[in-house]
Amino acid sequence: MTTAEHSPTAAGSGASATESFRAGRRDHVAADVPPERVSAVVGAVLAGVHDAIREHEVSYAEFQAAKQWLIDVGEGGEWPLFLDVFVEHVVEDVAARSQQGTKGSILGPYYLPDQRKLPAVADLPARPDEQGTPLVFTGQVRDTSGNPIAGAELDLWHADSEGYYSGFAPGIPEGNLRGVIVADNQGRFQIHTIKPSPYQIPTDGPTGKLITAAGWHPWRPAHLHLLVRAPGHRTITTQLYFEGGEWLDSDVAEATKPELVLDLRPHGDGALRADYDFVLEPA
Ligand code: DHB
Ligand code: FE
Repeated sequence: MTTAEHSPTAAGSGASATESFRAGRRDHVAADVPPERVSAVVGAVLAGVHDAIREHEVSYAEFQAAKQWLIDVGEGGEWPLFLDVFVEHVVEDVAARSQQGTKGSILGPYYLPDQRKLPAVADLPARPDEQGTPLVFTGQVRDTSGNPIAGAELDLWHADSEGYYSGFAPGIPEGNLRGVIVADNQGRFQIHTIKPSPYQIPTDGPTGKLITAAGWHPWRPAHLHLLVRAPGHRTITTQLYFEGGEWLDSDVAEATKPELVLDLRPHGDGALRADYDFVLEPA
């Protein structure tokens, strides 16, 4: 198979992300929002659009181009990609106002539930010829009083050495570089995987075309995604980045935080090691 056949298209990744959102748990979707709140929030969003049109004297031709672009985003299934890159970080900022312990970050569009459960010391599922620098990721999960949380779960997923996610890009086995690690009775874990590469928003779809049209760049720094959870504790949705990583200071999704950057140490044979301790607050 050629590289081109492996390359995920925007349409492929976008459609998969939309399908995954539809299939996902819907109990986190707000229902029965009172009319006063709908009016206040949607009214503010529309007022922002109106202000931008007045301030920049948007023409009819530009308005129609925007309408076409919105139609294309929907038809390409790219709303999860677009919203998670350009909007989710602010929703996360608001949620973070009431959160103690480890800092959170955006979930993004590529989470898949029900991955393989793995013991505290484990290899993340990978292809026999998985490319990339080997990474040993160790640490401990504790509560806000400093007590280890036995059996805490780390639901971990990340891109491969080309920046592609299993379940969304073609040609990658199901469950690759995904797993739920169960920490030991001291809350400790040691995960063997590879260091992912930076992620690029697919450039061939409407989101990519907008980025090009605006002269922005489409990159996110390399990152690990994690949900860290334990009974009786508030689940943390976060991402960890790598010190010195490209795009760390200009993440298109604005989802980095200084507290979420891993220090890397050599681990022999060209491998790297990173340690990180998670702190969960009571639910
Ligand atoms: C998107 C992709 C990611 O891998 C991520 O972590 C956040 C957002 C996106 O394409 O929307
Ligand atoms: Fe990601």
